[in-house]
Amino acid sequence: ARRLGSKKEKTLAMIKPDAVTKLGSIIEAILDTGFTITKAKMVKLSRAEAMDFYSEHQSKSFFNDLINFMTSGPIIAMEVIGDEAVASWRKLLGPTNSTVARSDSPESIRARFGTDGTKNAAHGSDSIASAARELEFFFPSSGGRGPKNTATFTKS
Ligand code: PPS
Repeated sequence: ARRLGSKKEKTLAMIKPDAVTKLGSIIEAILDTGFTITKAKMVKLSRAEAMDFYSEHQSKSFFNDLINFMTSGPIIAMEVIGDEAVASWRKLLGPTNSTVARSDSPESIRARFGTDGTKNAAHGSDSIASAARELEFFFPSSGGRGPKNTATFTKS
């Protein structure tokens, strides 16, 4: 049942290349928190796709590191639904930097599965508007089919 004052939202949860092998544990954490996963897709982003997805950060000093990292291996994109899912998923993610997350929010996904400020395990949309854009990027509602390259699990 929905709590009074709660609002069902959709958000884009993305498992980054460093944490794809932790998929099982991350899905368990998502479901244990009460979210529903309604879509999922594993893809290998091209440089152009990653630059498009993260275009709001193109002028940042870390942009090139971010794109290199996000194209270093497969990622898993998921549509996650729940009460205030945008903020709730970011809360479950914890602080952006996994080193900070380990001291400030040790149960968080980034504390448990990430490494540092670059390899931080997962992404979450930062607003309802971003969620709509990012879900459309991976799961287009009409016309295009989203990122082009499929990916496979391999033991490294
Ligand atoms: S900002 O400037 O406050 O908007 O940036 P921030 O919210 O901290 O981070 C935005 C996304 O960029 C990633 N990021 C990095 N990636 C690689 N290397 C470095 N140094 C780095 N710094 C920030 C950060 O993980 C955020 O990614 P997403 O996927 O949105 O969580």
